[in-house]
Amino acid sequence: MITQEMTTSPARRKLDKATQLHSDKTDLTLSDKEMARVSEFIGKHVGIQLPATKKTLVEGRLRRRLRKLGFTCFKGYLDYVLVNPEGENERLHLIDVITTNKTDFFRENAHFEYLVNHALAELEKSRKNDGRQDLKMWSAGCSTGQEPYTLSIVMNEAMANFAGMRFDILATDISHTCLQTGSRGVYTEANIEPVPMELRKKYFLRSRRSDDELVQMGPELRNTITFKSLNLMDETFTLPHKMDAIFCRNVMIYFNNEIREQLVARFEKALLPGGYLFVGHSESLNGIKTTLTQVGPMVYRKQ
Ligand SMILES: C[S@@+](CC[C@H](N)C(=O)[O-])C[C@H]1O[C@@H](n2cnc3c(N)ncnc32)[C@H](O)[C@@H]1O
Repeated sequence: MITQEMTTSPARRKLDKATQLHSDKTDLTLSDKEMARVSEFIGKHVGIQLPATKKTLVEGRLRRRLRKLGFTCFKGYLDYVLVNPEGENERLHLIDVITTNKTDFFRENAHFEYLVNHALAELEKSRKNDGRQDLKMWSAGCSTGQEPYTLSIVMNEAMANFAGMRFDILATDISHTCLQTGSRGVYTEANIEPVPMELRKKYFLRSRRSDDELVQMGPELRNTITFKSLNLMDETFTLPHKMDAIFCRNVMIYFNNEIREQLVARFEKALLPGGYLFVGHSESLNGIKTTLTQVGPMVYRKQ
């Protein structure tokens, strides 16, 4: 796992050696062949489909990474990452650069309203029936943490109406930089814009410095969330327990139908009977073989 940039001298030396064949002339344009290498790797390991039309986007994002590491051409970089065993750790950075991490607090709020107004009462019944103490929730593809923190705010608020109910949230993503941001739980004033003022006052901690525009998530939220690295493409991924609700929103949109179907089947298995799956507004499961029943807009339930 890469935890720091390759600025130490042995790493730097390895990198220089790997790139020396291509260091005489700088050409940071991505050829069709190189684009095909990137798409093949990302499709296979991450599930994200990168059609040729995304070449300019991929080139722009990767170019910054090449410059940072001192590579003078894409071939040198791709050989290093995809062929050279010494470059294996760089794969995480390649994935980080390619994934789209757009997210927001209270994004697609109708789902949180559905959870509070419909699903929680149902989940409360099943929890009582099988004698469990708490609800298990999973934000799969949590990006920089805004989704699990929103879930935690909404659940904390709802707990007033469900005496004795507790919850915890597993937040996973493939991107290590996203997970670091989520675990740190520090956001800018602009980031927290969608959060109603009374909830900001209740759950967020403000910096004491008046010129500092950073806000930290409070302990009532942080204590309910565990951030973990998990690749949804990994067929062998294991979870600590089955889930009452899974939020996997705006993640499957980048996968093809075959991968989505496999993933939905794994979500079905991961859900407890009566559990809910929430998917993004453009990710309907229409046309996907599943035993989950649609119970609301982009809300599915295991029977
Ligand atoms: C657009 S964000 C969505 C974030 C959040 N769920 C939301 O709706 O606001 C998609 C996230 O899925 C993650 N992702 C993409 N492929 C993944 C995979 N194979 N395994 C785990 N996470 C993945 C990306 O790293 C990214 O953070």
